[in-house]
Amino acid sequence: MNVLVTGGCGYIGSHACVALHHAGHTPIVLDNYSNSHPSVVGRIEELNGTPLTVYQSDIRDSKALARVFAEQDIGAVMHFAGLKAVGESVAKPLEYYDNNVTGTLNLLAAMREAQVSKLIFSSSATVYGDPAVVPIDEHSQTGGTTNPYGTSKYMVERCLADFANANSDWSITLLRYFNPIGAHPSGRIGEDPSGIPNNLMPFITQVAIGRREALSIFGNDYPTEDGTGVRDYIHVEDLVDGHVAALEKRGDVAGLHVYNLGTGNGVSVLQMVNAMNGVLGRDLPVRMEARRAGDIAECFANPAKAEQELGWKAKYSLTDMVEHSWNWQQSNPNGYQS
Ligand code: NAD
Ligand code: WQD
Repeated sequence: MNVLVTGGCGYIGSHACVALHHAGHTPIVLDNYSNSHPSVVGRIEELNGTPLTVYQSDIRDSKALARVFAEQDIGAVMHFAGLKAVGESVAKPLEYYDNNVTGTLNLLAAMREAQVSKLIFSSSATVYGDPAVVPIDEHSQTGGTTNPYGTSKYMVERCLADFANANSDWSITLLRYFNPIGAHPSGRIGEDPSGIPNNLMPFITQVAIGRREALSIFGNDYPTEDGTGVRDYIHVEDLVDGHVAALEKRGDVAGLHVYNLGTGNGVSVLQMVNAMNGVLGRDLPVRMEARRAGDIAECFANPAKAEQELGWKAKYSLTDMVEHSWNWQQSNPNGYQS
């Protein structure tokens, strides 16, 4: 099937293009390169052994979307395009709501016009806010988001639920990602944040490669086993396999489908640092700092629903995730600019 991959040049979208190809589908990418580098296209082509069709366009551009749907026989859409930096979203709420909410509504309208009715949306565990209990299952309350990024994901989920309700022949799947890390085992594609990384793993690998002096650990007084924040880190390869499973198992089933994509294992910041120290064979420089505003103590998934209904389960270990992140960083010390 031809699958339109919006944001297909980004971190997760690029891995999805490879997973889709290997599952026998044809990815067709639409990306405005606002947070990606055109050289990723050659890397995807190299891994897939075939040319990749790419439209350099914006999901907010209705004419560009209509052109893609007119030129390509699209069977389903995986929608990754959007802005994702929590701190930036506080400073630039309009840009976040415009890209993430308006952009998605625009995409939905173009799909309806083209009679493409299968959508898989990149949602986030951030829609659960500060969860009352962990592990978090799909029935846990959503909303209570603490920043415009999280609120934009929550708003899109609500819009998509209403849309699915009104269009009973559509299949819409919301995939709530926990914390994606890792990279393709080849080290040819991976996460390449611009500027100072917001997330833990790219910060760790940049310290390891010598681009940053030390890792600041944001808080060691949380009510967790070692006092540092606990998250559910999932290998990006497992994550994109979950998308292919969702497409194949739910794409032909009408309705709104919701799945957590996580491992179910909580890992603390110190455990992550230790895992990286083990892979490196040396200790990373770290310093303890105050808690980061808006952070929560613990967040990890109950991924049972995805296993039962999609036949999908995360396979990679924490060591695999760390090794593959480090392999990507070492092979590309300056990301795609290397
Ligand atoms: P990314 O920034 O690496 O990829 C997003 C891609 O979308 C980039 O290539 C960017 O250029 C493109 N893009 C952005 N706005 C666009 C627009 N208006 N039109 C066309 N292209 C546009 O991010 P990622 O980590 O790959 O995340 C992909 C999706 O998954 C996002 O929607 C993100 O919110 C969601 N998500 C990510 C994480 C995470 O931790 N990485 C967690 C949960 C959910
Ligand atoms: C993980 C842990 C930090 C950096 C964010 C978004 C969320 C989702 C994923 C998209 C926390 C600690 C971090 C550092 C640290 N994105 N940390 N030093 O906060 O779980 O989630 O990214 O949907 O919406 O909020 O991930 O990687 O930023 O932090 O100590 O330099 O690492 O305090 O405990 P988070 P993260």
